[in-house]
Amino acid sequence: MKTEIIRINDLSAQNGDLARAADIIRGGGLVAFPTETVYGLGGNATDDGAAKKIYAAKGRPSDNPLIIHIADPADADRYAAVNDTYRRLAKAFMPGPLTVILPRRETIPKSVTGGLESVAVRCPSHPVAHRLIELAGVPIAAPSANLSGKPSPTVAEHVIQDLSGRVDMILDGGPSEIGLESTIVKVDGDDEVTLLRPGGITYDALCMVVGTVHIAPAVTHALAENERPLSPGMKYRHYAPSVPVVLLRGEPEATLAFLMRAQDREKCAILCYFEETAYLKPERLFPVGARGDLAAQAHTLFRNLRAADRTDAEIIYAHLPPENGLGLALYNRMIRAAAHTVRDIP
Ligand code: TXA
Ligand code: MG
Repeated sequence: MKTEIIRINDLSAQNGDLARAADIIRGGGLVAFPTETVYGLGGNATDDGAAKKIYAAKGRPSDNPLIIHIADPADADRYAAVNDTYRRLAKAFMPGPLTVILPRRETIPKSVTGGLESVAVRCPSHPVAHRLIELAGVPIAAPSANLSGKPSPTVAEHVIQDLSGRVDMILDGGPSEIGLESTIVKVDGDDEVTLLRPGGITYDALCMVVGTVHIAPAVTHALAENERPLSPGMKYRHYAPSVPVVLLRGEPEATLAFLMRAQDREKCAILCYFEETAYLKPERLFPVGARGDLAAQAHTLFRNLRAADRTDAEIIYAHLPPENGLGLALYNRMIRAAAHTVRDIP
């Protein structure tokens, strides 16, 4: 398959390009597109055949459900049984980086939901994503536009690396602002949700809108053997480069000293803080942002993991992020990338 790549510089002047992309979606084809979180691999969410193509293009197990993307939060009602908790979440956080899991309606085929009776709904704020869904006139099922198991793509170049020749079109809308996938919550009942995947909408922000917010254990801990995950995606190895990742936990000075010694002793790539760059050798060094700048670290994480993976490093070191605020989302992605390998630096 030949993949057409279109750079979107000026949305209002490129309505024709977006209309063509929307035609592809309506016709059962696949279009990768930018969102504010990461790039998505989109197909018509009401079309069983399109869903099958998405799983095939990504090499994704078909029991791992897709998020459906809508242009207006009120549209959720057509595809899911919404309640007051959804409406409050939608009012506070949509359009934006929040996905809500609700009971599925028949309009969404079971292939999209991995056989589940629930469906994940999200209304992205990125103008290209928004326009594409609007023009398509159908909800767009879209997982992250990476090959299954690879870090999510935050620039079009990553999508091209993973999916060129496997999709009809790639829309290049520049770097994704947030850089981590959306926050996912499951609505448990009235005024009660469970956080399944942390993201740009933080735990504290959710607590301002919903009375009870549980955190699924798999957000911060490895699933035990035979444990049934609340979200099928939790059981798959995720966000993982091919080079092993080790996370460091320790005081700033001790961790920096460890990294300086590591550079002399082994072929390592390092995801370091800006403040540390002056003390480390530049080879295989990937500055992630200032120590306290979690937004910058989120924005650059997947890009840095991919870049570090493309070096000749035999090991990748990174700092273990804090678990508060946006740190929880970083922590969740990084412990998965590291397959829960954390090294304590005394
Ligand atoms: O930011 C995002 O959410 C991006 C952009 C493209 O919107 N999409 C994304 O999709 O990250 P994906 O497929 O890579 O991750 C969706 C996660 C998976 O872990 C899946 O298991 C979970 O959502 N999920 C989807 N539907 C679900 C459902 N009905 N119940 C439980 N988990 C569900
Ligand atoms: Mg994904």
